[in-house]
Amino acid sequence: MQEKIVIASDHAGFQMKAYLVDLLRRGGHDVLDLGPADETPVDYPDQAAALAHALRDGRAEKGILICGTGIGMSIAVNRFAFIRGALVFTPEMAALARRHNNANVLILGGRTTDMATAAACVETFLTTEFEGGRHARRVAKMEVINNE
Ligand code: RB5
Repeated sequence: MQEKIVIASDHAGFQMKAYLVDLLRRGGHDVLDLGPADETPVDYPDQAAALAHALRDGRAEKGILICGTGIGMSIAVNRFAFIRGALVFTPEMAALARRHNNANVLILGGRTTDMATAAACVETFLTTEFEGGRHARRVAKMEVINNE
């Protein structure tokens, strides 16, 4: 069965989110869009938390987050222990985020990345598998990091 994708942005990522939601749905993907519905300002930590909760609750298997730079979303969503969020700027980074880091959230900058590059990053993120092996050992070590 095809995996479900959850997506959210703030106002600075709204245009890119709208573009990607349309692209993904036209491509036959099952997309849960957590908003916003327009460019009215919203706070990226609220959106990042909503997306993390959707993944935690099994409402989707992979996530996409977009803010202006991607930095705020990256900092916020990676506070959740079960999230491996990767801020990427190229499809090569998206591929490595999957192959080496088993990233479950792709993070993009709506003001720093063009639409075609963002689409290529998403395509790569959704179609690249985790390599496991030595990378699985490293990913497992991240699961035990806490607030020592
Ligand atoms: C909003 O103006 C902007 O600060 C936000 O989208 C993001 O880039 C924060 O990291």
